[in-house]
Amino acid sequence: MKKVFLGLVGVIALVVGAGALYYSLLLPKQHPPSDIRVELTPEKIERGRYLVINVLQCVDCHSERDWNLYGGPPMEPVGAGRECFDRNTRVAGVNVGEESFPGRMCMRNITQDTETGIGAWTDGEIIRAVREGIGREGQGLFPIMPYFIYRNVSDADMEAVVAYLRTMEPVESLRPEREVDFPMSTLIQLFPEPLDGPVPMPARDDPLAYGEYLSVVSRCQFCHTPRNPRSMEGKPGRKYAGGMPFFLGGNTLYSFNLTPHESGLGSWTREQFIQRFKMHSAPQPVRPENNTLMNWNAFAGMTEDDLGMLYDYFMTLTPVPLELEPI
Ligand code: HEC
Ligand code: HEC
Repeated sequence: MKKVFLGLVGVIALVVGAGALYYSLLLPKQHPPSDIRVELTPEKIERGRYLVINVLQCVDCHSERDWNLYGGPPMEPVGAGRECFDRNTRVAGVNVGEESFPGRMCMRNITQDTETGIGAWTDGEIIRAVREGIGREGQGLFPIMPYFIYRNVSDADMEAVVAYLRTMEPVESLRPEREVDFPMSTLIQLFPEPLDGPVPMPARDDPLAYGEYLSVVSRCQFCHTPRNPRSMEGKPGRKYAGGMPFFLGGNTLYSFNLTPHESGLGSWTREQFIQRFKMHSAPQPVRPENNTLMNWNAFAGMTEDDLGMLYDYFMTLTPVPLELEPI
């Protein structure tokens, strides 16, 4: 009898152990979502709208885009998701040329619909997904969702984002579940890194710190710093130096040098910089071959103060000459 009992304990231990191993191998490092309840004040909602539309540009990816207009602004219904990539889609990889997507992945519906959007998610689940890349079931999100950038979004701004998302009209728009082929399916689970403390807001009266914050969370840094192929790491000594290739409708576009070198912002005045954005305050029709991926229209909605702080920050960078990265 004792033997049978011990055998049973052994089997249970084995099952639990295998479960833990499976869990640790197949699910990313993570904390449970926090039980925060974001208070919906008018100030928070307004700040959140500014972040979601103009600065963090969540709706760029989470909506269809109108490529007949310069910069491809999002189309109605905004936030209801976008077409999926699948094994037949040639996706324009940055620095890696064109290749087909290893599976199927959809730009999800982030409106408040409870069935097909994120209406039933808790505030903590949304915050964890956006900043730490963990989906509702604990799976790692595909890092096209730029959570590795948004981990820098301050706690206060993150609450504002949630407050605004809660006001978005629910739109029923089913986006199929993700399928990712091996080995990518395992690789993406290794990528998320939980935050280990509060993320403070840089002081607005420290313009350089605030300008740097904006340049990171609005992804200027991501698109304007060359990275090593297939990694997210910026190339040493080339911070904001531009020259990153992007592919749009058969064209190759290179991002601009944002350092104060003559091949970049060196000859631009603060006013010219601000105007370069503000001229796109109303979306303008464009021929597809002249279009760009950078959503100028959304960035044009940033305040002159914020654009000016971005410029001031770029002016403090080491000037680096533009070099076009190989495709
Ligand atoms: C560069 C494109 C891009 C941007 C910008 C972006 N997302 Fe995403 N997001 C994605 C993709 C792609 C997925 C799906 C990832 C997956 O399924 O693995 C996703 C997934 C999500 C999810 C999980 C939804 C679900 O049903 O599982 C949430 C929530 C989300 N995004 C919210 C946001 C918010 C809020 C912002 C702005 C702060 C944002 N996203 C900006 C591409 C983007
Ligand atoms: C999705 C990638 C992407 C993001 C995000 C992005 N850019 Fe760009 N940027 C580009 C590309 C590609 C070009 C070249 C094509 C063009 O002019 O739009 C460019 C061009 C520029 C130019 C040069 C325009 C000219 O007149 O030649 C400036 C200035 C600029 N970006 C600033 C910024 C700033 C500031 C941010 C952040 C607030 C930013 N970009 C975010 C991709 C991006």
